[in-house]
Amino acid sequence: MKITNICCIGAGYVGGPTMAIIAQKCPHIKVTVVDLNAERIVAWNDENVENIPIYEPGLSGLVAEARGRNLFFSTEVDKAIDEAQMIFISVNTPTKTYGLGKGMAADLKYIELCARQIAGIAKNDKIVVEKSTLPVRTAEAIKSILENTGNGVHFQILSNPEFLAEGTAVQDLLQPDRVLIGGESSPEGQEAIQALVDVYANWVPQERILTTNVWSSELSKLTANAFLAQRVSSINAMSELCEKTGADVNEVARAIGMDSRIGPKFLKSSVGFGGSCFQKDILNLVYIAKSYGLHEVADYWEQVIIMNDHQKRRFASNIVQTLYNTVSGKKIAFLGWAFKKDTNDTRESAAIYVSDYLLNEQANIAVFDPQVKEKQVLSDLDYLQTRSPELNRKGIQVMEDPYEVCRGAHAVAILTEWDEFREYDWQKIYDNMQKPAFVFDGRNILDTAKLGAIGFIVQSVGSTN
Ligand code: NAD
Ligand code: UGA
Repeated sequence: MKITNICCIGAGYVGGPTMAIIAQKCPHIKVTVVDLNAERIVAWNDENVENIPIYEPGLSGLVAEARGRNLFFSTEVDKAIDEAQMIFISVNTPTKTYGLGKGMAADLKYIELCARQIAGIAKNDKIVVEKSTLPVRTAEAIKSILENTGNGVHFQILSNPEFLAEGTAVQDLLQPDRVLIGGESSPEGQEAIQALVDVYANWVPQERILTTNVWSSELSKLTANAFLAQRVSSINAMSELCEKTGADVNEVARAIGMDSRIGPKFLKSSVGFGGSCFQKDILNLVYIAKSYGLHEVADYWEQVIIMNDHQKRRFASNIVQTLYNTVSGKKIAFLGWAFKKDTNDTRESAAIYVSDYLLNEQANIAVFDPQVKEKQVLSDLDYLQTRSPELNRKGIQVMEDPYEVCRGAHAVAILTEWDEFREYDWQKIYDNMQKPAFVFDGRNILDTAKLGAIGFIVQSVGSTN
């Protein structure tokens, strides 16, 4: 089957960029991205393309090129489903916040809603592609919903997990390490796989397109995220030992990374990993393992999360201890709020937990992030429900000028590794701070020798400087 009409349900961090690339690389395919969130769709259609709801380097240019030609953003979900031959499900799959599996299992209610909607609308055969990250064997549930609608339409379900990282989404999509497609071994399953392979083959070399059975594909996605997060927790575990022993975690990372079996990537020690997926996907993996009675497997992966929580807490408590065991009434400047640089996404950002800890210690926090607005910072804190919204607004201020954020502060904490932080006039920042002036570099991005020469007391993660 030659695909000429694609619908993607979910115009988020995955659906938006992924479909923009498909539209750019496949001018013969009409791509419609739909979402229930009307505000988000309005933003995707904003005349000024810089106002699209997701900040990713290179994305606005792509959208500007394809939007209105063969890329469309709409709230008309039913219409787009009806017209498409292939439907991507790219909706969110957060951790459950209620009921059985609360705090661990993936909440699949949005996925199920999509399946029911597709089942209700479809009048001809369709290929349904799982783009969201899902527990292994979810395709079974989707199939059961789709096949019991009684209208005689046939569906093929493919698993096609997304491996893009935020901040580099466009590059990751243009040149993926691999594209993974899982499908059934039946002739119809193989035909569906081929239809999706043909879409990607417009820009991805054939040898990078892997095809597997559905369960391997679903489980590979959880496995990839678990391995990546485990590397961060592993190097963060070593960072604490480095601080005690006089070893330097950057030197250790370099030394082990040169072993080609280990490799140099994903060995940056930090204040802890954040982002919408690592924690949620590992918790989901732990839940799945437990549900099969595999307790050792579950405990093994849970440790990655335990280590990460420890790293965030350790960073915050070190600030309090260093500032003479009290931050009450002291101004702490946060540079960065996003969970990593080059994104406006703040989900599960370490900054949220560090600030929560410091607010409990009655600190006054001032925040600057080049891409995150005040509304987002406050809603991230309110979401924790640690204290009333009024108290959050008393304890935290968000400003648009980094120098104002640092003015009068007792300490500056680096929470996100934005490049521009390196280039600031640190002498000016120093001159306007309380003395002694402390810097807690949670990302190890600053030149500690230069800052030390200015007069700062700098603490990095995983070294004693
Ligand atoms: P997101 O929250 O940014 O976007 C999901 C969108 O789906 C939202 O805009 C929501 O309104 C919409 N939606 C939910 N239910 C809907 C429905 N029934 N009909 C129409 N729209 C609906 O989420 P995201 O970050 O794009 O993640 C989506 C999935 O992709 C998740 O499973 C995630 O684990 C996975 N993933 C995310 C990333 C990433 O970098 N963010 C990378 C790889 C995989
Ligand atoms: C991650 C994976 O890298 C993607 O392959 C995957 O598709 C995605 O999750 C997903 O499923 O959502 P993302 O979370 O966007 O992508 O960003 P990463 O670059 O993986 O960073 C995650 C967190 O780990 C960030 O807070 C980052 O600062 C931190 N990190 C990363 C470190 O602390 N040290 C490192 O060496 C690398």
